[in-house]
Amino acid sequence: MERFHITKAFLGLDTVILASAQYTTQDGTVLTPETLFPALRNLIESQAPLGLQTMGDEATANVSWVRLPSVDLSRVVEFSGERELADAYESQLARPIKTQTALPLWRVEVLADNTLIFANHHAICDGESLLSFHMLLLRALQETSTSTSVDASPVVMVPDTTLLIPPVEQLVDVRPSFLRTVQELYEHFAPASWRPARFAWSGHPTPFKPPPQINTHIRFLTLPSAESSQLLAACRAHGATITSVLYVLAINVLSRLLQCDPLMRYKHIATITAISLRGAANLPREAIIDYPSSRTTYPRLDPIFSWADAARESRELASMKTSTAKTVGMLRWLFGQYVPFMQEKLGTRREAGFTMSNIGRFETPDVKGRWSVGRTVFAQSDVIVGHALTFSLTGDPSGALNFSFGWTDSSVDTPFVEQFIEGLREAILEII
Ligand SMILES: *[C@@H]1O[C@H](CO)[C@@H](O)[C@H](O)[C@H]1NC(C)=O
Ligand SMILES: *[C@@H]1O[C@H](CO)[C@@H](O)[C@H](O)[C@H]1NC(C)=O
Repeated sequence: MERFHITKAFLGLDTVILASAQYTTQDGTVLTPETLFPALRNLIESQAPLGLQTMGDEATANVSWVRLPSVDLSRVVEFSGERELADAYESQLARPIKTQTALPLWRVEVLADNTLIFANHHAICDGESLLSFHMLLLRALQETSTSTSVDASPVVMVPDTTLLIPPVEQLVDVRPSFLRTVQELYEHFAPASWRPARFAWSGHPTPFKPPPQINTHIRFLTLPSAESSQLLAACRAHGATITSVLYVLAINVLSRLLQCDPLMRYKHIATITAISLRGAANLPREAIIDYPSSRTTYPRLDPIFSWADAARESRELASMKTSTAKTVGMLRWLFGQYVPFMQEKLGTRREAGFTMSNIGRFETPDVKGRWSVGRTVFAQSDVIVGHALTFSLTGDPSGALNFSFGWTDSSVDTPFVEQFIEGLREAILEII
């Protein structure tokens, strides 16, 4: 998984994943080097992924982790004073994280309103782990704000005692079954006309070469806590989950838009749902890991919502909590040929029309202190060869749900996305 993500970024096909949260105190304390650096120092001293770089030959994916001697926070943390969250997200998503340097594989931007964006290379941290970082940071801020001897100097020596959590294949059984292998090989090698993807919408084809810069557009949508809890109650009453209902609604809304296609080209929608393997590995919520997996499906166009569909979707997702590890296991059949594998995705059909990733809710750590966290938001790119559109969500401590939508000009047209977002907003409110 780590080599997969390193190769994808190396080829210019993806940039960073990121999540933000607003940090506040009663007395309006501002995040500055004096308040923030001692907490980040704690994190670097306890979390191995924050003191890493990769070295080696990325063109053959023959890379390894190297522990940095030190991290210079003045080069990793930017107090930008930016006021617009969407602008900050778009500019973060346009800037990859450089490998083979003396800097670590993550960075932080602090906005004017004390919102802190954590952006990182996917190889050290998956979507859920972005929230882990914010949980750890809140804990560290509470601890350092009451301590009398804190060190706010920017250079942090990386201890050589921290341990990396092993890669996913060491903690989860990722070996695909024979049937699974045959199935995947079939989907890969069968003539295009036999494959389920043939009539599936997946946005525009991928470009023939990586763009000089990935410009991901970002829009946000919020469901305030009162509406979110009504939605959650309705989901529970029907044996569905927030993820399954939103997934079905997204298909309904896209179906309505795609049925307007004058050429009637589409019968299905290619979709991906992200599934974390954290649970399958029994790792704690605060562990920083790169353990994603996913489920790909090609549902038929269906403009009408039904709770039965949402309940079935929820059962299917639950039954795949560990079995999607086998998708990750398929990477072994690449025999290390990650670069040609990724390059093959250029100038062809995109993997999915949309990817839905729900990284769950920010869980406030059980440690008292003056800081609190709100307004968590999460976004990703992967719009060059991955999906045409990302639909990412997270719950904030107030219970509100924050959605982000990401796409690029070559993946899907902006007016289409705007209609989709508006349609989704109406569909959610209709259910509530
Ligand atoms: C990978 O890199 C290591 C160390 O840089 C080297 O010893 C090894 O021979 C390389 N393996 C391949 C297959 O090139
Ligand atoms: C996220 O949710 C919070 C709480 O409702 C809201 O105040 C905030 O504006 C939302 N953020 C975004 C980017 O929509």
